[in-house]
Amino acid sequence: MDGNGRWASKRGLPRTVGHSEGVKKAKEIILFIKELGIPVVSLYTFSKENWKRSEEEVSFLMGLIVKHFKEEFEFYIKNKIKIVHLGDKSGINKAVLDSINNVERETADFDSLTVYLAFNYSGKYDIIQAVNRVVDDGVKNIDEEIFSKYLLTANIKDPDLIMRTSGEFRISNYFLWQAAYSEFSVIDKLWPDIQKEDIVDALENFCNRERRYGGTKKT
Ligand code: IPE
Ligand code: MG
Repeated sequence: MDGNGRWASKRGLPRTVGHSEGVKKAKEIILFIKELGIPVVSLYTFSKENWKRSEEEVSFLMGLIVKHFKEEFEFYIKNKIKIVHLGDKSGINKAVLDSINNVERETADFDSLTVYLAFNYSGKYDIIQAVNRVVDDGVKNIDEEIFSKYLLTANIKDPDLIMRTSGEFRISNYFLWQAAYSEFSVIDKLWPDIQKEDIVDALENFCNRERRYGGTKKT
């Protein structure tokens, strides 16, 4: 969900206003994805590298997540949307962690749509935490299947489609291992400007792709 800062700057507003708009947009798109019958979506909301931003912006983002889960708690309950955190919980401050833990706990039994909230997540971090746990467990003959079980995404299928907004052709340390055969869609709009039609276009385009996974065309 890229482009919140630029969306605000273009309007002469502080970057934080862009983040507030971005969260509103995330809610709208989550609901749309549920209506489409898609069972799983992940949202890259805060990376390990995002701590490098100004203290003001980081603390605004931390406050925003608490505010969102407080104000929109009923939205998740009413729509039976399950929230699952992905990332390093140890690096998150208590108020934010309490908020995430609370929504995870209260939505744990829902199954209409699962939203993986990648927050304090990064692909390299995920791989390194997996390696450390493999070493701790003394596993010797590691293979791809075993290794995948140590990733934070152990219980999730690799993403079919990764959409990025703001026209940037970068993975920005997202699902590095998991994206091995993901399809990509780069949408040339800032995240707060995204419309449902953009999601539909990306999905239609995805449906017309031939996924060969390194094999050859099926005849
Ligand atoms: C995405 O928007 C939100 C987060 C990473 C928290 P950005 O904040 O990256 O917006 P730009 O890229 O600066 O416009
Ligand atoms: Mg950005």
